[in-house]
Parts: sequence; C-alpha cells; structure tokens
Amino acid sequence: MPGPMVSPVDTLTASDAFARRLAAAGDGRLRQALTATVTHLHALITELKPTPAEWRSLIAFLTEVGHAADDRRQEWVLLSDLLGASALVEEVNTRRPKLATPNTVRGPFFRADAPARPLGSDISLDGVGEGLAVSARVQDLDGAPIAGAEVITWQANAAGLYENQQPDLQPEFNLRGLFRTDGEGRFHYRTIRPAGYGVPDDGPVGTLLRKAGLPLRRPAHLHFMIKAAGFETIVTHLYDASDPQLDADALFGVKPELICRFERAADKPCFRLDYTFVMARSKQGAPA
Ligand code: BEZ
Ligand code: FE
Repeated sequence: MPGPMVSPVDTLTASDAFARRLAAAGDGRLRQALTATVTHLHALITELKPTPAEWRSLIAFLTEVGHAADDRRQEWVLLSDLLGASALVEEVNTRRPKLATPNTVRGPFFRADAPARPLGSDISLDGVGEGLAVSARVQDLDGAPIAGAEVITWQANAAGLYENQQPDLQPEFNLRGLFRTDGEGRFHYRTIRPAGYGVPDDGPVGTLLRKAGLPLRRPAHLHFMIKAAGFETIVTHLYDASDPQLDADALFGVKPELICRFERAADKPCFRLDYTFVMARSKQGAPA
C-alpha cells in the first residue's frame, strides 16, 4: 500500500520544497522575500554545517537582542547598522545624483518626538560643553532654496553620550530639536561640540563585536533628518574633520562630502559650522 504523501528534505531539496509550498500562498512581494530568505538560509546551513548547540546559541543571541530592545534602546537597529545591512538598504534605495547630500544610517538613538524649536534656539539644555553655532541652507540641485523643510537634529554630548542613554543624567530631549527652514531655505541653532564615542557595547551586539575583534568607535558627528514635499528625505551625519578616528568608524559611515570643519568663530567664544544640504527630487512612486 502506498504511504502518505510526504516531502522529506535534504540539503539539495529543502529550498525547492519550501518554494513549492509557498507558491500556493501569499502576496507577491512577501513570497519573493520569504523564498529568497529561506534559500539563502538553507545555503548558509549547508555551507557552515552548524551543530545543534551552535544553532541554539544563535537563537539565544537573537533572543537576547530582542530582550535588549525597547523604546529607549534599539538593539535590532544597532545589529543592522553594525553588520552593514542598514547602509546597504540606503545604498540600494537612494542612488542620488553626485551633487546631492548622501544618506548614512539613522542609528539607534533617533527619537521621532524631538520638540519643535524656533530658529536660533540653543538645544544644549544643560549648557555643558564647548559652544557650536550651526548655520545651514537646504537647497535643490539647481541651488534654489527649499523653504519650510522639516529638520530634525540629534547628537551626543561632550562625553559622547546621547540623552536617551542617560535619562537620569541629561535633561529629556537634550541636544535634539526640530526646526523648519525659513523662506531662504536656512536654519540655524546653537549647540555644543559632540565627542566621538563607542557604540553601546553592554548588550549582546557589543559582546559579539568585541569577541570578533571589530572596532566599536564612532567619530564625532551631528545627525540630521531633513524632509520636504517632493524630495527624497535626507538622513545623514556631519562629521568633525578634526576627529582622529574618522577612518576607523565602526559602521564605515564616513563619506568625504559629510566631513566638515568646526571653525573657531571670530566674534564669539564658540565654534561655528556652515553647511549646505542638497536635496534630490523624489522619483515618482518611490517608497518614502
Ligand atoms: C549613531 O551614530 O548614533 C550610531 C549609529 C549606528 C550604530 C550606533 C550608533
Ligand atoms: Fe551618532
């Protein structure tokens, strides 16, 4: 008597068996993503031949990453950034004209609820650090100003720590702000010079990178997210040219166009930074 119809898998048939099962179900993009993910996963297992104990330790690591992620700390974003996955997602989605400001990773310290502040505000709420006056213009590829663009900025303090890493020591929303460009596409604010820092290494991702002997430093930088209707959103950093760690960034995130001099201001006891952001028009139908 013939046995029941079953499909046992081996290293040669596993991916096909999964793809056949999926073919009957699901929406196009989900099916495409699942099929590719599972095919690559099966190839990885066939190549590395992990022992059951090694496989369990991978699952334990991913479980720990999940436990280490909450509203204030995004361990999954950190993992994606440090494996170069976030940068690659940017790269495949935003191939910009040469003169447009390039994107870099958003990182795990972004908060979407940064308070709106008037132009000229000081975003250093504790006043600790060397003063820095930031003055910038947002324009299109033809040099025309982009008025009313939304600019969110966030940065580490002079000790290299973000406000959401030290909720008990720094004022809430310290060194964060949301500005709107004026009629000439300009925005300006006061802050302090950020220091470079080590990426958070007290969680599972830091432990993994340390074990692998990978660098965990980031050079000093300011973060920006700039949105304007009809343009591709800019998510980027401006790096301090005087930081000696520029070529040792844990994320390989430094791009020449984003390195800036923080000049000593002639008239005030602070530094100043002037920069022009150039936005590319969004392609029709492109995802945000
Ligand atoms: C950051 O620059 O805030 C950052 C980005 C990725 C990983 C860690 C930190
Ligand atoms: Fe940062």
